[in-house]
Amino acid sequence: MTSPNYKICCIGAGYVGGPTMAMIAHKSPETQVTCVDINAERIAAWNSDDLPVFEPGLFEIVAQQRGKNLHFSTEVDKAIEEADIIFISVNTPTKTYGLGAGRAADLKYIEKCARRIAEVAKTDKVVVEKSTLPVRTAEAIKRILSTANNGANFQIISNPEFLAEGTAVADLENPDRVLIGGERTPEGEAAIQKVVDIYASWVPGERIITTNLWSSELSKLTANAFLAQRISSINAISALCEATEADVDEVAHAIGTDSRIGPKFLKASVGFGGSCFQKDILNLVYLCEHFGLPEVAEYWAQVVKMNDYQKRRFARKIVQTLFNTVSGKRIALLGYAFKKDTNDTRETAAYYVAKELLEEQADLAIYDPRVEHDKIRSELGIDDRSTNVEICTDAYTACKDAHAVAVITEWDEFKTLDYQKIHDHMLKPAFIFDGRNIIDLGKLREMGFEAHGIGKG
Ligand code: UDX
Ligand code: UDX
Repeated sequence: MTSPNYKICCIGAGYVGGPTMAMIAHKSPETQVTCVDINAERIAAWNSDDLPVFEPGLFEIVAQQRGKNLHFSTEVDKAIEEADIIFISVNTPTKTYGLGAGRAADLKYIEKCARRIAEVAKTDKVVVEKSTLPVRTAEAIKRILSTANNGANFQIISNPEFLAEGTAVADLENPDRVLIGGERTPEGEAAIQKVVDIYASWVPGERIITTNLWSSELSKLTANAFLAQRISSINAISALCEATEADVDEVAHAIGTDSRIGPKFLKASVGFGGSCFQKDILNLVYLCEHFGLPEVAEYWAQVVKMNDYQKRRFARKIVQTLFNTVSGKRIALLGYAFKKDTNDTRETAAYYVAKELLEEQADLAIYDPRVEHDKIRSELGIDDRSTNVEICTDAYTACKDAHAVAVITEWDEFKTLDYQKIHDHMLKPAFIFDGRNIIDLGKLREMGFEAHGIGKG
């Protein structure tokens, strides 16, 4: 399949926009791709050797295409004007104010983008929603664009992104499916086809699903809600395992072999994080309430409540096990990112665990191989003079003289640390809490640790 020679622009060069556009440029050499962002620092980083987003394999692709058919720029208006297809991939955080605060998605950035497109565009455009949005947002974008009076026509497409952070390149290269929603009118079908053409450069036709706009928007929220629900379900069972003699990993394996259930997303943990799961479920809950469906809203809200419980339960278990006080005790947190292979910390369980322990007056020593130290400090609201939080550059330093070690992120390097060495340099009794079940508890106990996992009775 030859690649189409479209001009594409993407507004928002974040964790989603950046990698997605890099992959399109990589797979579709005839397509000109410009990624714009209002954040000049971010754009400068995309143009440097130190990309703002860490993803295995991403740098190689960016370096290959940059300056050829992949450009990063702050010139939003110019990129809009020149593009045939405009992706909107700006962030849609949970509203922190007014109606729907704490649950609804804040659409101010999306609206701003739509207004900018309406003002600047002089030729027809296909506008693609890449950001995850509440159902029927396309309608709002359409109304804003219809106010444009430069003679341009607009078609709105919903094309939600399903990549997971840490595996973005592999997910983009080989997606389970690409979902493209549009209006079922001749103009709408033509716009859908344009977006299909982009992906058809490398995605097999049977994996490209086209739907109406609303189904596409709702599918993204539903996919994330189902995935998160599996984690909350197994985490709920992990609490029961701890109260009995059961082992949650054995239970997960046993149920996962049922082909109707399947083995993925059944890993019990300290709690899910990331920019999407909680936000999208809260958004779904808000939508259900808005449409007068309180029972449905309550059903999904429980997935987030269970996750809050799991994060709290982990922190409290540390406190209880350490003789009900961690005041003045050094506790090493291994990992701060919300999952391995990313430098992203949005909604990370590490933040909640750290906050609970700090409230109990613990001294924390935090090590993560990828997260910038300043980011951890600013999230926890401390400065580099703080005496109760030390950010370390390796795991051994963090664990030295600690009363307890807590594994928060499942980084591969934590599986192969020399735990005997770590034990020898800790205060005794030496406690370890594996929030990801990645280390053999039996071996740790042989080394002398008092070792706890998640859902290990
Ligand atoms: C975002 C949303 O959070 C998610 O719901 C959606 O599925 C995809 O887009 P992400 O790429 O991870 O995800 O967000 P982020 O890394 O914050 O990137 C958004 C970028 O948009 C930022 O770099 C921001 O500067 C930029 N932006 C925001 C603009 O360029 N213009 C704006 O008006 C607002
Ligand atoms: C998720 C969706 O997977 C992706 O399709 C969507 O586009 C964006 O949201 P992401 O948040 O990047 O992706 O990562 P994901 O791998 O889904 O992990 C989310 C959280 O769940 C992480 O904190 C992870 O550690 C946790 N998790 C995942 C578990 O605790 N157990 C599991 O079995 C799987």
